[in-house]
Amino acid sequence: MTDTPDPVVHAVVPSAGRGTRFLPITKSIPKEMLPIVDRPSIEYIVREATDAGIEDVLFVTRAGKTSIEDYFDAEGDLEAELERAGKTGALETIREYLGYARVHSVRQGKPLGLGHAILQAKRHVGDAPFVVMLPDDLMEPGSRLVSKMIQVRRALGGSVVALLKVTPEQATAYASTSVEFLDIPEGVDLEDGELVRITDVVEKPPIDQVKSEYAVIGRYLLDPAVFEALEQIEPGAGGEYQLTDGYARMIDRDPADGGGLYGVVVNERRFDTGDKLGYLEANVSLALADPRLGPALRDYLRAELQD
Ligand code: UTP
Repeated sequence: MTDTPDPVVHAVVPSAGRGTRFLPITKSIPKEMLPIVDRPSIEYIVREATDAGIEDVLFVTRAGKTSIEDYFDAEGDLEAELERAGKTGALETIREYLGYARVHSVRQGKPLGLGHAILQAKRHVGDAPFVVMLPDDLMEPGSRLVSKMIQVRRALGGSVVALLKVTPEQATAYASTSVEFLDIPEGVDLEDGELVRITDVVEKPPIDQVKSEYAVIGRYLLDPAVFEALEQIEPGAGGEYQLTDGYARMIDRDPADGGGLYGVVVNERRFDTGDKLGYLEANVSLALADPRLGPALRDYLRAELQD
């Protein structure tokens, strides 16, 4: 144990982006509200947070995205109607949100980048470690990734990010890291080769500057010291305030002062639902895993592929 055993109860879900990869639908529907099988992708994120022990989720949003907040609210008339009609199954479905972490929201105002979006959470989160979950990264339901990242923070302190093994070409679209493998501390449910110390990180590097096969994906457990760093950064890649430039400063920061940056290598299925193909893959995979839909969908896909 280190001297930073604070419980991790906050998650911040930045949702103020424009979703240009998903135009034209994102002209009027937030991409976070697009369905994966029968529920919006944002619900999977809130459920994943809840499963990891998170009690409080803060959405960073903008104008035109109030449907996200509405989704996690009561729907009085509909509930009364379903109750009168005795439709208990449907009633339970629309009340599932009551079992999730409490949700709140804050506006970003201008989409100046992910780092700027996270800074909007400072007042709400205060001086506590927090998880950032990018809604475009959908982890397979039942994922234990965030729980494992919390275990690493308990054992080593500092900040922890999720790392995906990628090709050099793919690495140019992510933050690329230099890493040193670490022994697995007691109380951390990881295998050898799944825990690293990050010694350098660069956002969307050109291919000749890719650091390794380990790229950062959208799960971050950050020490609150990152807020101070985010207040100091200048616009970086793409002219945006990059979250990467903020947590990169944790590498050289004194561990007694919240410093240290670690990586957990993801060994679970993950979908990039901000991309049209990744979105379709998530729908097909999750529908195939659904006992009500899977068998019929499997037959349909087999027949379709034979034509
Ligand atoms: P992306 O770079 O994927 O941007 O942001 P985007 O606008 O959502 O999607 P595309 O690339 O234009 O299709 C990564 C995450 O950061 C949030 C986005 O909502 C997304 O969850 N974000 C980005 C903000 O909240 N604010 C910003 O200023 C930028």
